[in-house]
Amino acid sequence: MRIDVLTLFPEMFESPLSHSILKRAQDSGIVDIVLTNIRDFSTDNYRKVDDKPYGGGPGMVMMPGPVFDCFEHVMKQSSEKGRVILLTPQGQKFDQKKALELSTEKRLVLIAGRYEGIDERIRIGLGAEQISIGDYVLSGGELAAMVIIDAVVRLLAGALGHEDSPRDESFSEGLLEYPQYTRPEVFRDMKVPDILLSGDHAKIAEWRRRQAIERTKKWRPDLLKENSNKNEQGEH
Ligand code: ADE
Repeated sequence: MRIDVLTLFPEMFESPLSHSILKRAQDSGIVDIVLTNIRDFSTDNYRKVDDKPYGGGPGMVMMPGPVFDCFEHVMKQSSEKGRVILLTPQGQKFDQKKALELSTEKRLVLIAGRYEGIDERIRIGLGAEQISIGDYVLSGGELAAMVIIDAVVRLLAGALGHEDSPRDESFSEGLLEYPQYTRPEVFRDMKVPDILLSGDHAKIAEWRRRQAIERTKKWRPDLLKENSNKNEQGEH
């Protein structure tokens, strides 16, 4: 997969992209992440990329010119068009289902908006779909782009470095994860449940499933409701 990110702050991505799974996935060629600075496409002597809003009001608005020029430059670098995504709190809510869907694409082009807003013609002209990572307002789309990159890349074949499918984990089945334990067997008077030491794999699987259901009921009953609504609509 190739992921392009159009941003005014490429440096913000350095640390998340140079550790752990994201670093390994890039090193092993599973994903190619290309950061392009929108400011490099400013035609202004001061490298300006924003201006005052027409009609007045506070704050600055990202100008369409540099974003369009940056986008056209990036699109020329690969024949794969991919999915063009604008990060904005107005977008469709990002979740594990969306992450799975995006992980099947050959290319993602993520556009991180900044400042108080972006000129509306960017959204219209680029034909971008809009994605939000939650109902809160960030200072820009960069952190949202990183969240999406992380959630998507770890789903790509080989990225996790172990055989088990990430599809077994939290949310993939609409359930929270079962509790995990490692050594020591007793820690500060808290004991690992006997069943996990029993070696009976069928019983363990059944226990884990029950635990996952119980925890979801207790902590995220909304997830169970969401799933039963979907099933009623014939979606699985
Ligand atoms: N930009 C600002 N807030 C955002 C959010 N919640 N999701 C995606 N992009 C954003």
